[in-house]
Amino acid sequence: MTGLPILEIKNLRKSYGAVKAVNDVSIHIDRGEIAGMIGPNGSGKSTFFDCSTGLAKPDTGTVKLDGQDITGWSLNRIAREGRMLRSFQKTVVFKSLDIEENLIIAGQMFAFPSLWSTFGLGRLSRQRVTGLRERARELIRMAGLWDVRHQPAGNLSGGQQKLIQFASMLMPEPKLILLDEPMAGINPKIIERVVDTILYANKSLGVSFLVIEHNIDVVTSICQRVIVLDQGQKLVEGLPQDIIQDQRVREAYLGG
Ligand SMILES: Nc1ncnc2c1ncn2[C@@H]1O[C@H](COP(=O)(O)OP(=O)(O)OP(=O)(O)O)[C@@H](O)[C@H]1O
Ligand SMILES: [Mg+2]
Repeated sequence: MTGLPILEIKNLRKSYGAVKAVNDVSIHIDRGEIAGMIGPNGSGKSTFFDCSTGLAKPDTGTVKLDGQDITGWSLNRIAREGRMLRSFQKTVVFKSLDIEENLIIAGQMFAFPSLWSTFGLGRLSRQRVTGLRERARELIRMAGLWDVRHQPAGNLSGGQQKLIQFASMLMPEPKLILLDEPMAGINPKIIERVVDTILYANKSLGVSFLVIEHNIDVVTSICQRVIVLDQGQKLVEGLPQDIIQDQRVREAYLGG
């Protein structure tokens, strides 16, 4: 049972016209693992995420989450029923709401599909909000956002907004999170915070991760295994320390 991968993707293909964005890629993510995905620009990383999480339909291939075939499921269904979430390269938060409100709404949206319950109306819902508030506060502390928790999210820096988005993703108790370049455009102090929050989510909340990241120091410090894509194909996968020394990887990055 514990040997079953949390995510198993086989022979995924996706073309846009003549471009073979993802060309027969198979990977797995072990339960409890933090895996990295690297590759030059345009190598198909985001498209691979799109096809794995229901944002785009793969041309062929299968996606199994926790043993269940979810190929063809929508992004929403995969998030709600499958508890696999993904981030995008662009940060999205509710700018006029404070941090705690952002997190509570994120928790509510996945637990209850209706707007009625999302905004906390009714007695049962109020009890749920209390539970969600406790979880939100724990995550806000963990993300180092406690001192600014009552500020509208829109007043905070881009890096802090990324942290809010990431903490929001942890609210609905996901099994697996796919992060698309979480460190892009943020300063080293916030990078440390994001790293700490990923490690906390992994160790204390049991969330598995697949992380697309160009920051090689981050990849080598948090990932147990790294998968390299090049021109839509899996070039190699292995331990971070072996991957950074691999001649094929160096050539791919140098534009060979
Ligand atoms: N919606 C789309 N329509 C047409 N072509 C697309 C689409 N999405 C991706 N592509 C093409 O597929 C290829 C892979 O792109 P993708 O965005 O997946 O790469 P990436 O590895 O995420 O790159 P980056 O590191 O720059 O984010 C590129 O040639 C890109 O132009
Ligand atoms: Mg991308």
